[in-house]
Formats: sequence, structure tokens, C-alpha cells
Amino acid sequence: MNEKWLKIGDSVLYRDDLETSTAIIKISREKQLNALNSSVISCIEQALSEIEKNKKIRSVIVTGAGEKAFVAGADIKEFQHFSENEAYNLSRTGKEKLFNKIANFSKPVVAAINGYALGGGLELALSCHIRIAVKEARLGLPECTLGIIPGYGATQRLPKIIGKGFAMEMILTAKIIDADYAYKIGLINHVVSSDELISKTLSITKLFNNTSPEALSLAINSVNSCFLSDADNIESRNFASLFNTDNFKEGINAFIEKRKSNFD
Ligand code: CAA
Repeated sequence: MNEKWLKIGDSVLYRDDLETSTAIIKISREKQLNALNSSVISCIEQALSEIEKNKKIRSVIVTGAGEKAFVAGADIKEFQHFSENEAYNLSRTGKEKLFNKIANFSKPVVAAINGYALGGGLELALSCHIRIAVKEARLGLPECTLGIIPGYGATQRLPKIIGKGFAMEMILTAKIIDADYAYKIGLINHVVSSDELISKTLSITKLFNNTSPEALSLAINSVNSCFLSDADNIESRNFASLFNTDNFKEGINAFIEKRKSNFD
């Protein structure tokens, strides 16, 4: 395993796990509980652009440095004096550069939640395709206690993940929940101990290597479309377009020939 971390900017670390073909992005602003400022957002965006082009990388893990926080939210100190217009731009730019980019990424992105996932931090995890958290993680949307609402997508993504009732409760009460409760309501997929967070996450990303990259990309697109009015047709179109790929032929041939498939 290549354990060497590369630095991107002053607050994001990056490494490839070659054994599982997984890229790991670690937000590293530990003293500020990994709060998301514009520099962190740009650095993650930069890492994702590189990962998108790299055919050897099949999936991504996003995690936070230290044991205390995954991400404790958008950086409150950065936006405290913003005008309405600046706040609108913060929300739009953050979504375009990071949150929507992750949600629509062509490779699976898994959030490894190592501590607090609050506000924009939980929204970052919500934009990922799968969420795994340590027992000590605490999750919540405190925005309404700050006199604002979530601005990085939680009002749209949370109801789709846990249902409107639980989403309303989390957003309106701003209560912070523990990992076991988050698991019960379907907010996270697995709860693990802190020393097995990355190994358990890698054991999941390793499974993606048994699948066709084009199939995963269009599966993400189809699931993301599930609430659109033409979602049913989007699924049919995506399904059909995979019949043109070499990996489809390989997958089917491998099944018929009773062997393991060898996807490109
Ligand atoms: N933004 C900026 N700085 C933050 C931060 C944030 N979201 N969260 C923590 N920090 C900073 C603290 O200001 C503190 O910095 P200093 O040492 O320079 O004072 C440092 O991180 C350590 O934090 P605490 O001393 O507060 O640590 P604690 O253990 O006492 O409390 C906590 C931990 C409960 C997570 C607390 O830090 C907290 O409540 N943080 C804010 C959580 C929050 O409200 N998040 C939502 C942000 S708004 C948002 O995300 C909007 C959006 O959707 C776009």
C-alpha cells in the first residue's frame, strides 16, 4: 500500500491506494475542525479533476484529518459578514465546484466520517454516494441555530436519503445525532470503530473493481435521476447505452463462459 500523502494547497491531503484502485482525499484543517473554506473547496475540486482523468482510479474516499471532525461545517468565519449576493454566490459556487460535482461524479465516492459531520460537513457526506461513520461520529444540521438554512444541498438530498419526515426533524430541530441513530434512519450505511474506518471503507471500494466502470457511472446517473419526472426513461436510456460497451460484452461472455470477468 502506498501510504505517501501528497499535499494539495494548505489543507487537503491526497493518496492513491493502488491495491483497491481508490483515491483518498483527506481534508486537513484539524485546528478548525476541517471547516470548509473556499481554499479547501478548490483543492478538493482540483483532486477530483485529476481522479476523473485517471483510468487506474475506480473510486474515491473523502475523510477528515484527526479523530474529532470529518468537517464541522462551512467556515462560519469566512461568511459571517457576507451580503445576500455574496451568500448566494457562496452556495452556488460551492455546489458547482464540489457538492454537485461529487454527487454526479462518474466514479463512486464514499464518505468515511471520522467525527463531527455538521452543516456543510454533513452536506458533503450527503453528496457522496455511500456513507460510513465511526461510532463516535456526531451528525447534524445546526444552520437554523445560526439563523440560516443549509446552503450546500441538504434540503434537497437529505429527504431523498432518509425521507421527508426525518429530514424535516433534523433540519428544523438542528439536533445533533449519534452514529447508531444515523444508521437506524438510513443516513449512514455502516458504523465501524475508528481504527477500522479506512480498512472497512477500502473493503467496500475494492468491490467496485469487479464491475464495469461505464455501468457504475450510469448507475450513479440513474439513481440520481430517481426523483426526476422522466427518471424511468433515463434509466431505460442509460441501460440501453451500456449495450454498446466492450465491458458489457466482456461481462456477458464471462457469465456464459462461467469465468471471472476482466473489465477494462
Ligand atoms: N467554521 C469555522 N470555524 C469552526 C467551525 C466552523 N464551522 N467549527 C469549528 N470551528 C473552529 C472553532 O471556531 C475553533 O477555532 P478557534 O480555536 O480558532 O477558536 C476550532 O474550530 C475548534 O472548535 P471549538 O473550540 O468550537 O471545539 P468544541 O469541541 O468546543 O466544539 C463543535 C465542537 C460542537 C463542532 C463546535 O466547533 C461547533 O459547533 N462548530 C460549528 C458547527 C456548525 O454550526 N456548523 C454549521 C456551519 S454553517 C454551514 O455549514 C452553512 C452551510 O450549509 C453552507
